[in-house]
Amino acid sequence: MNQYNFPTVLFYGADALKDLAPAIQKRGLKSLLLVTDPGLVQIGLGDSVKSTLTSSGLNIEIFDNVHPNPIEEDVTTGVEMYKSGGFDGIIALGGGSAMDVAKTIRFMAVHEPPLAQYDDALGGDAKIVNPMPPLFAIPTTAGTGSEVGRSSVITLKETGRKTIFFHPGLMPDIAVLDPKLTVGLPPHITAATGMDAFTHCAEAYLVDSFHPMADALAVEGMKMIVANLPKVLDEPGNLDARGKMLLAASMGATAFQKGLGMIHSMAHPLSAEYNIHHGLANALLIKFGLEFTIEKAIIVQNQELLYKLEKIGGIISNNTLSDIRLIPKLLGTFINRIGIILGLNEQGIQIEQTSVLATLAFEDSCHATHPFPVSIEDFKAVYNRAL
Ligand SMILES: [Fe+2]
Repeated sequence: MNQYNFPTVLFYGADALKDLAPAIQKRGLKSLLLVTDPGLVQIGLGDSVKSTLTSSGLNIEIFDNVHPNPIEEDVTTGVEMYKSGGFDGIIALGGGSAMDVAKTIRFMAVHEPPLAQYDDALGGDAKIVNPMPPLFAIPTTAGTGSEVGRSSVITLKETGRKTIFFHPGLMPDIAVLDPKLTVGLPPHITAATGMDAFTHCAEAYLVDSFHPMADALAVEGMKMIVANLPKVLDEPGNLDARGKMLLAASMGATAFQKGLGMIHSMAHPLSAEYNIHHGLANALLIKFGLEFTIEKAIIVQNQELLYKLEKIGGIISNNTLSDIRLIPKLLGTFINRIGIILGLNEQGIQIEQTSVLATLAFEDSCHATHPFPVSIEDFKAVYNRAL
């Protein structure tokens, strides 16, 4: 038996935000906690979204105690505010961090502390049993796709480790994909988050499991990103292209219910150890991770994998590619075109550090669904190529 999940309601298009308040009121809700980050409050986006929602008669309070890599305290103070304010729902506004905190407040508002007992790696999902308040997600970046996801990541106080919480009930009730909210993103964040979305699509597509529905989303997502990511960098106000990037990010995250692969396993230690933006980490690695994957697919003549790699080659070359071994070069050109300079050296990483990074990448769970096993030596070799 295979299980396929595509349940998130998406409101898509310029000014889609205006339709959120009526949809919330239709559910009988009146008062909601708006979880966002201080940066968005500073640029006025928090207040602007709040006033769009309050003009329809909703009561909205802003909670912005959210760190870029969210910590347990963000959740604890958020839960206190949620409980004491008599709210009947939560809105997440922002990138992955605000979404992670909002999702975690969502279940901790109706479950007993400590948070650590709900750690997914320890089977904590089974303890998430109570009905949770409704959650509405408004992404302001086109990358993580967290608005359609069922997990959150919080660094626990006691262990200092990034801990994953997972439950199907964490998926937002409605995600609002309104391109007007991503227009103000700085170019380097637009590029990095866009490459995160592309990597989600590419890695999910390559996962060797029978899921043609997710594969179709991943393929279409890659096409949309190749066509629209350069466009949004050339014309930041292009709402059509911004909208398609938002949609492609949601499609990538829907597709990676199949799993991810070695590139995400290598990206995670770069963020944890060197504080490199997650999307940028993927952008710096994908060319070399795919190169390694292509070489292996040719050696072992994995026909299914070769077929998928040809498909990716067609997408990034506009169907002009004659040999999949040219994919890395083309991808490198695309990444440079969107303003990212390849080379881990540029981020201060030296060859002496790749052994430790390789061990951490090997310990990361994402490569469990890579189309073939990847060893510590393999990870080290690919990091070295990416230097
Ligand atoms: Fe990612």
